[in-house]
Amino acid sequence: MTNPLNLDLPNKYSSLEETLNYAEKILMVAVDDTKTLFHTPVVSSFNNDEIYSRVMVLREFSLKDRKMRFHTDYRAAKVDHFNKISTASVVGYDPELKIQIKLQGDISTHYDDEVTKIAWDNSTSRSKKCYSVKDGSSKAITNPEDYDIKDFEVEEGYKNFSVLIFTFTSLEFLYLKSSGHRRAIHNWNGEYEASWLIP
Ligand SMILES: Cc1cc2nc3c(=O)[nH]c(=O)nc-3n(C[C@H](O)[C@H](O)[C@H](O)COP(=O)(O)O)c2cc1C
Repeated sequence: MTNPLNLDLPNKYSSLEETLNYAEKILMVAVDDTKTLFHTPVVSSFNNDEIYSRVMVLREFSLKDRKMRFHTDYRAAKVDHFNKISTASVVGYDPELKIQIKLQGDISTHYDDEVTKIAWDNSTSRSKKCYSVKDGSSKAITNPEDYDIKDFEVEEGYKNFSVLIFTFTSLEFLYLKSSGHRRAIHNWNGEYEASWLIP
């Protein structure tokens, strides 16, 4: 099956192994390919007993390490959420692929350490620019124009830069198509286990 990602995806998924292998391919491609909606999955956190969700750019995916990397402003509310309750959920769906991938796990936050240094050094000036916004994310303001980023020194943004590392313990693959709905769960809570689920 051809698709905007130029991934050779099957029309049917007949083994659990296949669902994991294709999830890996899709998420690896999604890191650099802005055409797939998996490039911008939804990341959810707990704020006390309320769930907060937001779209974030996927910066890295590794199935071997069961890891995703996201970048954010250290002053953002979610950094505080994950420092208090690390539980996280990440979900993406691409209608072109007809595939949803949902992951459960924990997020660790990084600030001015080896992880943030490497991620910052590998970021483009365009990405770095966002971190130069004054006062930081979520502050109530009267005039948005006052917060347009104009005069800035790009490297100054590093002091506001944070990396979120999501380590997942489960990955669910859901394919909804008339040729046959398929839902598979892969779990790494202890020994790796996988199973089909009723879609
Ligand atoms: C397409 C798109 C990509 C985004 N990427 C990021 C991102 O990579 N990191 C980030 O912190 N916020 C990103 N945002 C903004 C978040 O969705 C959110 O509004 C912001 O981070 C504040 O979230 P919080 O108040 O829950 O911390 C993105 C929004 C959109 C629409």
